[in-house]
Amino acid sequence: MRFRKDISAVAQQQLRRQLLDARASLSSVARDDAALQVGDHLLQLPELQQPCHIGSYFSVKAELPTHTINERLMAQGHQLSLPILHPARAGHLLYMQLNQTTKWTHNRFGIPEPELDVRHVTPLTHINILLVPLVGFDAHGNRMGMGGGFYDRTLSAWREGKISLLPIGLALDCQYVNELPVQPWDVPLELVITPSKVWDFRG
Ligand SMILES: Nc1ncnc2c1ncn2[C@@H]1O[C@H](COP(=O)(O)OP(=O)(O)O)[C@@H](O)[C@H]1O
Ligand SMILES: [Mg+2]
Repeated sequence: MRFRKDISAVAQQQLRRQLLDARASLSSVARDDAALQVGDHLLQLPELQQPCHIGSYFSVKAELPTHTINERLMAQGHQLSLPILHPARAGHLLYMQLNQTTKWTHNRFGIPEPELDVRHVTPLTHINILLVPLVGFDAHGNRMGMGGGFYDRTLSAWREGKISLLPIGLALDCQYVNELPVQPWDVPLELVITPSKVWDFRG
């Protein structure tokens, strides 16, 4: 049993590496173009035709760039919150609403995040749409992240039916695989948007 578990952990790590390499092989022009197309799909969703509170994220490295997507969402009148590493609960995220005076800092992973300001903390119950980064996704909406479990923890209250929101993964087409290994704590996504397609996993 222990042996099998170790093998699958190694396989999972290899798959994550492959997917990260595929993502990194794209040019920055191709990534910007992909972000434009993903942004078009996102803005056209029926759920976004009224003002929403959207939990987004700040993309890093070879991720699909979210900068222009975030700007377009705000220009359309949506409210935007971005996650910071929770100052008290290890492994958890805390969402901060952006405003004219938002100050920025870097967290311990070097990822830009809004400075903690209790006046601008957004409870998850206020968020209608949660945009989620991913390393890989499969035909069932299963998601592979960077391995920190941050978004599985964030989405666990939603999976338990305690809060209502729409979790949407944003991805490049090369991040698709037929089937991902799934652990009990992994929370699948309802939608994944890539440049070529809106994947809808709602039953
Ligand atoms: N809801 C949760 N409660 C407690 N621990 C969790 C939860 N979700 C994930 N984790 C932990 O986070 C770690 C990483 O999760 P994993 O799914 O491998 O990462 P990722 O989703 O980022 O790819 C795992 O060790 C898992 O036990
Ligand atoms: Mg997971």
